[in-house]
Amino acid sequence: MPKYNFDEIVNRKGTNALKTDALEPRYGNPDLIPLWVADMDFKSPPAITEAIIERAKHGIFGYTCASQAYYDAIINWMSRHHDWKIQQEWITFIPGIVKGIAFVVDCFSSVDHKVIIQPPVYHPFRIIPNLHHRTVVDNPLILEAGQYRMDIEGLKNLIDPACRILILCNPHNPGGRVWTRQELADIAEICYDNNILVISDEIHSDLAFAPHKHIPFASVSDKAAQNSITFMAPSKTFNIAGIVSSFSVIPNKELREKFHAYLSSSELEEGHIFAYLAAQAAYDHGGEWLAEAKDYIRKNITFVDEYLKVNIPQIKAMIPEASFLIWLDCRELNMSQKELVSFFVDDAKLALNDGTMFGQGGEGYMRMNVGTPLVNIQKALDNLKKALETKQIRS
Ligand SMILES: Cc1ncc(COP(=O)(O)O)c(C=O)c1O
Repeated sequence: MPKYNFDEIVNRKGTNALKTDALEPRYGNPDLIPLWVADMDFKSPPAITEAIIERAKHGIFGYTCASQAYYDAIINWMSRHHDWKIQQEWITFIPGIVKGIAFVVDCFSSVDHKVIIQPPVYHPFRIIPNLHHRTVVDNPLILEAGQYRMDIEGLKNLIDPACRILILCNPHNPGGRVWTRQELADIAEICYDNNILVISDEIHSDLAFAPHKHIPFASVSDKAAQNSITFMAPSKTFNIAGIVSSFSVIPNKELREKFHAYLSSSELEEGHIFAYLAAQAAYDHGGEWLAEAKDYIRKNITFVDEYLKVNIPQIKAMIPEASFLIWLDCRELNMSQKELVSFFVDDAKLALNDGTMFGQGGEGYMRMNVGTPLVNIQKALDNLKKALETKQIRS
């Protein structure tokens, strides 16, 4: 018997939730079904809410440091869930992973350096280095039998001495791949040998679906451990993105000291009272909630896949091995990207992410967030089916 009710509809409108309250400025219509930005519509584990309320009742919110219990919660979670033994001094709070990427780019490269990414991929991987005037080099993923794999040979061929950083999305957004040990070890080897620092963004790591198991990049080899900065967070896992409680894990002393010096020169490593508290509560008490949330998300994914196969076979779901985002292959609709986006927004009244924002390989795709009660998904797919029928009648 499940303990948590993921079917509960919680109205997020009017809470300044980006997902609902930015529909009007972003999509021109406040009433679309919001299946875009990557947070979920589920209430977080009660243990997090209770910890925050309990602390708020104290009534004094002065300067706060990270407690021993906070570090222990992270260390134990990594060991229990990812078989990764990490040490306390490797961990530092950061005020968000996208910001963390900017800090690493700023700290470890200069304007004449290049940053490698593997598109289609989470768009800030391109946007942030570009905004810092770094050249971004694409090592596109290879689409094979409806699933992505890394182009290891392509990576070897594009490297030149100006390449200094590779940003890895582990697991992958938007494709949902949980990379294999071999893929990660290959990246580790190539990057170490070519003096390219790896940023491993592991924000979706806790959401891998069995039998797939997340492998922390830094755990695959010594070369990986000594040449990487890993970013993790309880934000996607427990739906607490608004609390901002990310952290970096850096096994190598030299890299760690350089990065920590960079952060502390602007006091960027100082977390806030609820970040520490929420992360600790999540990792200490959120395991059962997470297991149920993953079961629910998995059923949503299966529902989407089966619905599309029966009703809209022109759209194909790439089944994610991790997380609540489905990469929809809409190429058989034979629409230009502009027509595709307008079809989803104007005809089907749905707010999804335009595939092209993820870079090369995103044309003809849309990204759908299924971290929401099933009824929302049923309604969204019915809208899509009806919109397509209407379009076909008209043409
Ligand atoms: C791969 C990836 N990294 C980072 C983020 C955002 O992290 P943060 O809110 O900590 O900047 C997201 C959010 O969707 C993501 O998918």
